[in-house]
This record gives sequence, C-alpha cells and structure tokens, in this order.
Amino acid sequence: MAQVVITEFMDERAVAQLRTAHDVLYDATLVDDARRLHAEARRADALIVRNRTQVRGELLAALGRCKLVGRLGVGLDNIDVAGCEQRGIRVIPATGANALSVAEYVVATAMLLLRGAYASTDAVASGAWPRQALSSGREAGGKILGLVGFGSIGQLTARLARGIGMDVTAFDPMMDDDHPVWGQTLVRCAGLDEVIRMSDVVSLHVPLTEATRGLFSAERIGSMKRGAVLINTARGGIVDEAALAAALRSGHLGGAAVDVFGTEPLPASPHFQGCPNLVLTPHVAGVTAESNERVSFLIAQQVLEALR
Ligand SMILES: NC(=O)c1ccc[n+]([C@@H]2O[C@H](COP(=O)([O-])OP(=O)(O)OC[C@H]3O[C@@H](n4cnc5c(N)ncnc54)[C@H](O)[C@@H]3O)[C@@H](O)[C@H]2O)c1
Repeated sequence: MAQVVITEFMDERAVAQLRTAHDVLYDATLVDDARRLHAEARRADALIVRNRTQVRGELLAALGRCKLVGRLGVGLDNIDVAGCEQRGIRVIPATGANALSVAEYVVATAMLLLRGAYASTDAVASGAWPRQALSSGREAGGKILGLVGFGSIGQLTARLARGIGMDVTAFDPMMDDDHPVWGQTLVRCAGLDEVIRMSDVVSLHVPLTEATRGLFSAERIGSMKRGAVLINTARGGIVDEAALAAALRSGHLGGAAVDVFGTEPLPASPHFQGCPNLVLTPHVAGVTAESNERVSFLIAQQVLEALR
C-alpha cells in the first residue's frame, strides 16, 4: 500500500476511490501548514495538489520517496517541473478536465460586460426605472473575440463563442497559419498585435511562463480597441493590474473580468475598488461542481494506474 498525500480540496468520492487501494491522507488545509506539509511529504509516494501548493524548494526536497505529483487542474506554474523530473517524479496534470468551466465563464462574462445591464436589481426593486441608462448595452453576436493562446481552453472557448455568433481570431506561437486547427475550428489565425488591436473582447489562455509574464503591459492594454473588454482567467502576473484598473477608470476599456491575480488571495486592492464594469472572482473560472468531479476522478484514476 502506497502513501498518498492530498494537500487541497478534492472530490470526496475520488478520495474514497484512492482509499480502496492506498493509505490516503486527505486534508484540504494541509497547504496552509508548511511544517506539517513538509513532514507528511517525506512519507508520500504520491502527492496530489491544486494550484496553491508550491511544489518547489523545501517541499520538493522533502519528497524523498515520491514518484508522482497529481495536479488537480492544468497550469503547472506552482510546480518546479524540471526539479521534479530530475528527481524522477512524474507530474500529471488534469488536462482538459476543467476546460468547459473556463470556456463558459469567458463567454458568460463577455456577454455580461458587453451588455452592462445586469446590475440594476436594487434600483428596479426600489422603484427606480433606469431604462434609458441601460439601453445602450452591446450584443456579443458579430463582435470579434480575440484569444491569446489557442490550446484546449482557447479552442473550446472559440467553439462556444462561435455558437453565439462571435467571430473568433487567435494568436498562438505554437500554431503557424497553415496549422490544420484553424480550418477545423473556423478561427482566424493572427499575430498578437493584431488580435489585441482588432478585438472587441480579448481573452487570455496562456500558461504563466517567462514569455507571458507581463505580456499585458500598460502599452498593450493601451493598444486595445476603445471600449473593448479584457478577460483574464489564465494567470496573475500576465496582466498589469494597475494599468488595467486605470484603463477601466479612464473609459479606454469598456469592461474586464479577472479571475487570477499576481498575489492570491488578492489583498484589499485600491486599484480595483470602485472600478466601473469590473468582475473579480477568486480563481474559480475552472472550478464548478462538474469540473471538480471530472478533475478529481481523472487524477485519482491516473494516480491509481501509476502506482499499480
Ligand atoms: N482560472 C482557472 O480556474 C484556470 C483553469 C484552468 C486553466 N487555467 C489557466 O489557463 C491556461 C491555459 O490552459 P489550457 O488548458 O488551454 O492549456 P494548453 O496547454 O492546452 O494551452 C495553452 C496554449 O498557450 C500557448 N502559448 C504558450 N505560450 C504562449 C504565448 N507566449 N503566447 C500565446 N500563446 C502561448 C500554447 O502554445 C498552448 O497552445 C493554463 O496554463 C492555466 O494557467 C486557469
């Protein structure tokens, strides 16, 4: 029987599946107790984490007998993948299992922010009738959605967006303009600057790497179309948060949705407080009841197979 240590929340039924074959320590608060985390890591044959557990430095050094790290999600920026490889530890992400949750979040927030008409509940209930003020919202159909990063989430987002009549254009340096994916998805391939300049909604679907850190600088945000919407479900550190807030306040951008931040949890933010047409969520774009189940069972299955 191997020892499996789970440091963040996981679907209980998937945990139970792991328990049928292995000794499992499941404590969703372990991530917040470094001393205990390192002690348990020393005994682990397999470690299962979400995005908050930093598998590097002291924790990585403690994984003396560990053979694999299961990641309940897809971004690997919280894991020293090269360091794991050097120690013979396999890293297993839940590729694709939360893509639909993120894609739905993007299309829903794009529609919400373009329309700008869903925050009138208190006004209407209290007898005000702000019909005039809310009559110039925009439709999503016919607008251009620009995707930066065209992997599994980017492609699914494109499919949903095309379903509501958006034209989709995308940039991905790994896919030249003769790549078959463009024909298969009916998405137009373009350069980064063009995607940013031409789109009514720009949505980010890239990993956080040295190449993408700071990609949406003040200058790039400034080159977006006036009134455009920016959606970041990718990773904090890619968008300059202060520049984004300034662009919303000045009216250069018409709206933004931000699910991921340079520091998480986001400390009280004077930049974002009171910003117009801004949706902030606590890193939940990929987390729904369904995706939690899919992600958890996928990783449980892969860990069971790898330990067999
Ligand atoms: N907010 C959430 O809850 C949540 C959930 C899932 C994933 N994510 C984030 O979304 C990211 C994308 O997920 P995915 O499943 O689509 O990953 P993926 O690996 O399938 O796709 C990422 C794509 O980005 C491209 N890319 C890499 N560097 C680029 C660059 N500099 N410019 C443009 N494109 C570049 C790659 O070629 C690849 O096609 C993840 O890395 C993760 O950080 C967030």
